[in-house]
Amino acid sequence: MAGPQPALMPPDDRVVMISGANRGIGLAIAKRLAADGYRLSLGARDTGALAAATADLDDARVLRAKFDATVPADTPAWVEATAARFGRIDALVNNAGILRQVTFDEGDEDTLDELWAVNVKAPFRLIKHALPHLRRAGHGRIVNIASTDAKRYRAPTVSIGYAMTKHALLALSHAAKFAGWDDGVRSTALTPGAVRTDLIAGLPGVTATADQIDPATIAALVATVLSMPDNASIAELPVNARLEPTL
Ligand SMILES: NC(=O)c1ccc[n+]([C@@H]2O[C@H](COP(=O)([O-])OP(=O)(O)OC[C@H]3O[C@@H](n4cnc5c(N)ncnc54)[C@H](OP(=O)(O)O)[C@@H]3O)[C@@H](O)[C@H]2O)c1
Repeated sequence: MAGPQPALMPPDDRVVMISGANRGIGLAIAKRLAADGYRLSLGARDTGALAAATADLDDARVLRAKFDATVPADTPAWVEATAARFGRIDALVNNAGILRQVTFDEGDEDTLDELWAVNVKAPFRLIKHALPHLRRAGHGRIVNIASTDAKRYRAPTVSIGYAMTKHALLALSHAAKFAGWDDGVRSTALTPGAVRTDLIAGLPGVTATADQIDPATIAALVATVLSMPDNASIAELPVNARLEPTL
């Protein structure tokens, strides 16, 4: 790239794909990025729920697509529909995820497979298909919503299956950084603690609801990550609601 990097990259109509955009953190990210001036390609397995949740967004600047993380064919279809609609893809936010209880005493291998399919294999597939477009964009960005459970194993009440998949997503995020670096693609693993969504409602051992992070706070961090120039790579971004050593 000619000349020095800017201090910050403006939204400038950049096109961002967000998986699981119909509720929770994904919806908060969609609303924040729309307000900031990004164009959005939103993926959800229930497109009716997605349309209802995002009815306030400007249809001229938003594509809503069917994306089921467990259906491999949905990924290339969504990526190609995004490129066809906007002519470019500047960023991918791997947000869709599930939490199921799998420990040595609870859950089974089918549930473990489900966790891998949604939390790891789907983000892998999305990165693989989006990468050529992100490289062409010049300053492509990948944001993977991992978890503090990607960084350590906190307590025996925590799903081992969830922690395993989030650790794997962290590895995937670092690998994506290497894959895209020379073409200006940067990859970030955002690793939040407890965020106030359905995902952790009533979960044993989790931070009290009143102390959980607001999804809009996570959305603000995603906006910050997307504003970083190529020479300010944020490989990991931990954010925690509770006191822990190093997190
Ligand atoms: N909440 C927390 O404390 C917390 C902390 C750290 C990280 N995270 C991560 O943040 C991400 C978002 O979680 P959240 O808290 O917003 O949870 P949430 O409110 O339960 O929302 C999960 C989202 O993922 C989607 N999803 C689930 N399975 C899917 C599938 N097979 N195909 C496509 N989409 C699917 C859901 O769609 P449906 O509506 O169709 O189910 C929904 O949009 C997840 O990756 C989660 O692991 C959450």
